[in-house]
Amino acid sequence: MKNYTSVYDIPDLTQWLNEARELKSNPRQHKQLGSGKTLGLLFFNNSLRTRLSTQKAALNLGMEVMVMNFGKEGWALEFADGTIMDGDRAEHVREAARVVSQYCDILGIRAFAGLKDKSEDESEQVLNGFIDHCTIPVINLESALGHPLQALADAITIAEHKTSKRPKVVLTWAPHPRPLPHAVANSFIRMMQQMPVDFCITHPEGYELNDKIVGNTPVFHDQKQALEGADFIYAKNWSSYLDYGKVLNRDNSWMITQDVLGKARFMHCLPARRNVVVEGAVLDSGQSLVIEQANNRTYAAQLVLKKLLETL
Ligand code: CP
Repeated sequence: MKNYTSVYDIPDLTQWLNEARELKSNPRQHKQLGSGKTLGLLFFNNSLRTRLSTQKAALNLGMEVMVMNFGKEGWALEFADGTIMDGDRAEHVREAARVVSQYCDILGIRAFAGLKDKSEDESEQVLNGFIDHCTIPVINLESALGHPLQALADAITIAEHKTSKRPKVVLTWAPHPRPLPHAVANSFIRMMQQMPVDFCITHPEGYELNDKIVGNTPVFHDQKQALEGADFIYAKNWSSYLDYGKVLNRDNSWMITQDVLGKARFMHCLPARRNVVVEGAVLDSGQSLVIEQANNRTYAAQLVLKKLLETL
């Protein structure tokens, strides 16, 4: 594995999930592996979990960490080639990526979708700009199209908490006042498509996701029908993909309540708006796995870092 940018970079998911469990049982067991190595983390967007869990993972492996809020503190970057840079953009990614590659051994980048221009978002110019010009491995800390560290943590969480061989997992759209990207949903879908689970998606009409990602996964517009018999309910808002970046409705009836949850376990990547996306009582109940998911972010990141360190 050269970079970790997508769940498709995982060569053997079953083996990785076993290894994640092993790492979690003794997180400092490989503390020599990262000795003398530096992880750089560049954030073009806000974060709590990704920032801290990835640092924690690196520290568990004996690495040193440098973090920069690039979106607020870095020079505005140019990504296009051949541009006359006489505007606001002071530095080209060609130099920035090669400079950072000298200071770090592995680089993580968070750069969300702008949700204004679908083709620009789908070009992943920040992530791909760094991958193209870095001379070190790059980890996707959530890009326009995917959040593969979150999806790996979600897979670890489901593997830990399932009580049957083939649990039913449902990804449900949930309301939110602001337009949110598709990255978490995309990576979760791709991950569930590779897991031994019965998986389906439910969302209101108009919230269809990229059909290249959804593929043959069943989609329901009737949330109640989709959630029947679910073992895990994963709630997530996303803005419209077809009417790109728009909030089409805020239908409160899609909020996950205790009634809707039934006997299922509740999952969400966090942050989650209480009593908008999910009833506070659900998050406070023993059925919620959101804190376990956030904990597993450390072991997901640690596994990815370990794999990359082993290639250096
Ligand atoms: N789930 C997640 O990525 O959280 P942060 O945005 O806080 O990093």
